[in-house]
Amino acid sequence: MITVRVPATSANMGPGFDSIGIALAVYNTISVEETDSGLEIDILDGSAEFLPRDGRNLVYRAMQRVFNEAGYKMRGLHIVLNNGIPVTRGLGSSSASIVGGILAANEICNARMSRDDIISFAASIEGHPDNTTPAIMGGMVIAVLSGGKAYYQKIPIDGDKIKFAIFLPNFILRTKKARSVIPKVIPHSDGVFNTGRAALLTASMITGNYDNLKIAFDDRLHQQYRKKFISGMSEIFEKAYDCGALGTYVSGAGPAIISLIRAEDENSFSKNMSKFFEEEMNDWELTVTGPDDNGALLI
Ligand code: HSE
Repeated sequence: MITVRVPATSANMGPGFDSIGIALAVYNTISVEETDSGLEIDILDGSAEFLPRDGRNLVYRAMQRVFNEAGYKMRGLHIVLNNGIPVTRGLGSSSASIVGGILAANEICNARMSRDDIISFAASIEGHPDNTTPAIMGGMVIAVLSGGKAYYQKIPIDGDKIKFAIFLPNFILRTKKARSVIPKVIPHSDGVFNTGRAALLTASMITGNYDNLKIAFDDRLHQQYRKKFISGMSEIFEKAYDCGALGTYVSGAGPAIISLIRAEDENSFSKNMSKFFEEEMNDWELTVTGPDDNGALLI
């Protein structure tokens, strides 16, 4: 069997709508073998209740796209999924499926796609590059699509200095629904607001000067429109900043929210936020993780 491990990703990172994302140390494992005929999909974790186990499965569909591109006639497939990334919560579970499927298919049919081909191919399937590119590269990645090709730059993030507090609610939000409320036209001042902050965020993460992050993580392109689907969002932002978060933002299309915190603050931050959730918002839970620097790996 071919096994691929793909990290979770947190897209947008505040002002970087559809263009900035980071890989996190939470993983899906996708194992695949070619069989004589048919399609068998086993899902070993709780995501089985959300994911189809037939031709609609995203891992399978991504594999088919590679086989079609390569002109490969696949006989049958056995796919085994072990998903550590929560589904439809804004942590890149769809992108992990797409990336895992492409990498596995690339091996099976010996398509010899280069890493850049895979990055552009994955972004074209997903429609935007801010989850798929860090899922492949690891680290924080700035990525844009132009003429069907992804152009990107990775920024390594020091996991000894920065941790990611993931606030996860017990409800889901589908990306399609979360994208449907984004306006087609925005005021010029909102564009200026976001471009400045996306640049400040990028510069702060490169230099390791985290003092400006609270301002840099602000956004006017998507968070305010999605807020109505994320009950508790304002309270969590406020509490997280009270507890010492460096920056807080809606992860991807939501509903998960993420705070960057200094590694040395992890214990006190977790204790205070967990107490807040226990006492006031027990439909949310907290997990703290680090960045992933490797991206998708064939195991
Ligand atoms: N940039 C995307 C969005 C990420 O916010 O809709 C989710 O796929």
